[in-house]
Amino acid sequence: MNKFIENLNWRYATKEFDTSKKVSRGDLDEIIEVFRLSASGFWLQPWKLFVIEDEDLKKQIMGAAWNQKQVWENSYLLVFAKNLNVDKNLVDKYLDRSAELNWISRYDLSGYEQTLLWFVDSTPREYLQIFSENQVYLSLWNVLAFLADKKIDSCPVWGFDNEKVDAILSLRDKWFASVILLPIGYRSENDTNLKRKKVRFEKEDIFEIM
Ligand SMILES: Cc1cc2nc3c(=O)[nH]c(=O)nc-3n(C[C@H](O)[C@H](O)[C@H](O)COP(=O)(O)O)c2cc1C
Repeated sequence: MNKFIENLNWRYATKEFDTSKKVSRGDLDEIIEVFRLSASGFWLQPWKLFVIEDEDLKKQIMGAAWNQKQVWENSYLLVFAKNLNVDKNLVDKYLDRSAELNWISRYDLSGYEQTLLWFVDSTPREYLQIFSENQVYLSLWNVLAFLADKKIDSCPVWGFDNEKVDAILSLRDKWFASVILLPIGYRSENDTNLKRKKVRFEKEDIFEIM
């Protein structure tokens, strides 16, 4: 079977991690690199990954996440956040970086600059936030697929109070807001989800050739 498909069958939403095993710093660095390399609309990368290692912080976040145990007992809790300021400053940041890496001047990028400024200036703020959130989900998927390849377990967690988590981590002060949590670690043999079948609809239910 294709390795990617094998990985997708291997991964599952892990509810209980084996707390005697910890994801290494080297693996964490690679996870961060995968996040960094994720594609985003207009190249804007409107996101930030907060890596929570502090046990007390994780416990507080669990309290804001319906007391889901996997949010506390894990190797690291990744908090995928969206940038609340998709604006001219972010456009400048991207263009400066692009000019530097490509050894060209900002002037050479002025056509693209007009497009980006049109996008951030003419799009209502609430849509820009939806834009950011969508990009964050794309990066989440990259990380999920990579974790499966590394045989590191995880559980995306959407069931949490965003405002509470943002307050615990003071994210809004930095102009970020949480989108999704991702505890990572190694599965416990006692995890009840481990014994469950992967439940997916039949092919004919989920696609059509037209
Ligand atoms: C965006 C998103 C949010 C999720 N939120 C939660 C959650 O809050 N708690 C939880 O236990 N699982 C959560 N899950 C896990 C899903 O329930 C799980 O991925 C789905 O049932 C498919 O099962 P599988 O991942 O084991 O293949 C979430 C998954 C996704 C993709």
